[in-house]
Order: sequence, then structure tokens, then C-alpha cells
Amino acid sequence: MFFKTSGAAAAGVAVGVPGMAQAAQAEAGRTTLPYPKKPVAMTSGLKLNEPVSFTYPDDASPCVVMKMGRKVQGGVGPDGDIVAFSTLCTHMGCPVTYDGQARSFKCPCHFSQFDPEMAGQMICGQATESLPQLTLVVGGDGAITATGVQGLIYGRQSNVL
Ligand code: FES
Repeated sequence: MFFKTSGAAAAGVAVGVPGMAQAAQAEAGRTTLPYPKKPVAMTSGLKLNEPVSFTYPDDASPCVVMKMGRKVQGGVGPDGDIVAFSTLCTHMGCPVTYDGQARSFKCPCHFSQFDPEMAGQMICGQATESLPQLTLVVGGDGAITATGVQGLIYGRQSNVL
């Protein structure tokens, strides 16, 4: 009797697992907020190695888009060299600035540095996370559109509020 009951219970669990997995997927889907699609610049408006500021995914999140002049990790556009990043340092949220000569983002607060040619990778300093890199799409007309963010913007539990 013990085995028969246990077997039935086990069968119930086995049948229940796929249903539970589907419910978990549906729950995760409900909590995933969509990113806005936002035009941020035109390819013709970018100068080599000079960042252009904008905000994404909302007005409280400063970002820059820039043309590096050579194919880089995560780069888009005809030359694979256009990238965009959040400019809030991942250490404590200070605004980073771009040093065109060093070709890196530098944080004035505790001197962390980030590499825009390596997906915002932290080079040195107090930060432990890369600068969040935006996902971009370039249209046939040269419009650069932000479509998402890889990595968590400083101070947020979710990039889309
Ligand atoms: Fe940038 Fe501390 S806030 S290194």
C-alpha cells in the first residue's frame, strides 16, 4: 500500500512538473518589461571618437553613442564601430566622462575606467561591473535606434521602470 500511494504521488508530481514550468515561464514573462525603441542619432551626425549624449530608456538615464573608427565588440553600422553606453559608473553612480585620447571612459569619483571597444569592460578602479552597453539598430536611412540595455544601470533593480 505504501508503495502504491508513493507511486501515485510520484506520478502526480511527474505530471505536475511540466505545468509548473509553464506557469513559471508565464510569470517571468509578465515581469519582463519591454524596452522602448528610441532614435538617438544619425550615423551622418557622428564624428569619429566623439560621444553624443542622449537618455535611455528614460530621461533619468544618461547615455552616449559614439563611432570608434574600427570594428569593436557590439558595434553596429556599416563599419561595426558604433556603440552606446550608460554613463553612470557602476561603482557608485558618478557620471563618467570620455577621454578621446585614452579611448576610455573615466570616472572622476574613484577613478574607475571602462573600455568602449570591449563592451564597456572595466579596466581598473573600484567598479566591478562593466558599463552597461546599449543594443542598437541602424536603419537604411542611417537612423540609430536604441532597443535595449545589456547590464544593469546603476541604482536600478530593473532598467525599465
Ligand atoms: Fe565611479 Fe566610484 S563612482 S569609481
